[in-house]
Amino acid sequence: MNSSARIYRGTPRNLARLARLLRAGEPVAVPTETVYGLAANALDARACRKIFTAKGRPASDPLIVHIHSLAQLADVAQPNAAALRLARAFWPGALTLVLPKKPVVPGIVSAGLPSVAVRMPSHPLFRRLLKLAGVPLAAPSANPFGYVSPTSAAHVRAGLGKKIRHILDGGPCTIGLESTIVDLRNPRAPRLLRPGAVTQAQLKRVLGVPLRAAAKTTVQPAVAQLAPGLLARHYSPRTPVTLHQKISPTAARRGPAGEAWVFLAKPRALTGKNIFWLDTHGRLPGVARRLFHVLRLLDGKNFSRLHVELAPGEGLATAINDRLRRAAAR
Ligand code: TXA
Ligand code: MG
Repeated sequence: MNSSARIYRGTPRNLARLARLLRAGEPVAVPTETVYGLAANALDARACRKIFTAKGRPASDPLIVHIHSLAQLADVAQPNAAALRLARAFWPGALTLVLPKKPVVPGIVSAGLPSVAVRMPSHPLFRRLLKLAGVPLAAPSANPFGYVSPTSAAHVRAGLGKKIRHILDGGPCTIGLESTIVDLRNPRAPRLLRPGAVTQAQLKRVLGVPLRAAAKTTVQPAVAQLAPGLLARHYSPRTPVTLHQKISPTAARRGPAGEAWVFLAKPRALTGKNIFWLDTHGRLPGVARRLFHVLRLLDGKNFSRLHVELAPGEGLATAINDRLRRAAAR
């Protein structure tokens, strides 16, 4: 195999070794419940620079800092009461909070911004590694910049295998979409920067106020971007994607054989080499879990176009459709 990356099982010995490598400034790809991340010591600017190099990520795109315990939050950020309420309600889990940054966090992590994004992940192997490393770990998704996020160790190796040396295998990600990001710099006016598995309604219930949406723009900002959501084209497969509110089986049956049709649920009485679905029964957690895997799989099959069905409703559907719209943006 033309790849220099080694995939490690999560044995105590391997975890101890990877924690040592992280402390020594090496980047390590790690499993999380959302997507795989490419981690490095968040307090070491040189280590973090390797993340940007491996991913081909512009220095204007800041990283998320992952912590093991609530006590670590105040080491890297200045939490406010609203942040602590959300942390208690949703951590460990798929929620990232943007807060004023502490000076120990190097500017490369925050792309020069005075704020830092922080998350306490729930994946048990990543948690053990965070504890052993003893330092907060900065980690964006472990994919080449702009491509679909990885939800398995094999995805990480396919994209970054020649650029990194260590990948911890924690199995397929259970959520499958990147975390919800909330900007809490002003706790009275929280803003949703990226929808994820922690929904608007859940956040509102804890905060007592609705969240404002991030300003949408399709223009590439020249300065540090406020949120990944502000770049229209992100998470994109190479194959053009067309979205549909609902795919009619007739349209799929009559369409050209070189175009793929991706239903939310397994269609009845319709099969073919270009017919796919995301979850047998179209249940949204299953759709979210398999979405990036299916996009990657189909991207490798030489279809000229992927037709994908949007998810109905709100909540998790909002996050799924956000990623689909980015995949379809050109
Ligand atoms: O679920 C996740 O969030 C995964 C796992 C690995 O934790 N991480 C992830 O990171 O998806 P990614 O590739 O989306 O990069 C982090 C994003 C950046 O695109 C950035 O815009 C946003 O988080 N971010 C980081 N620091 C920020 C800040 N100070 N202000 C606003 N947004 C920030
Ligand atoms: Mg990313």
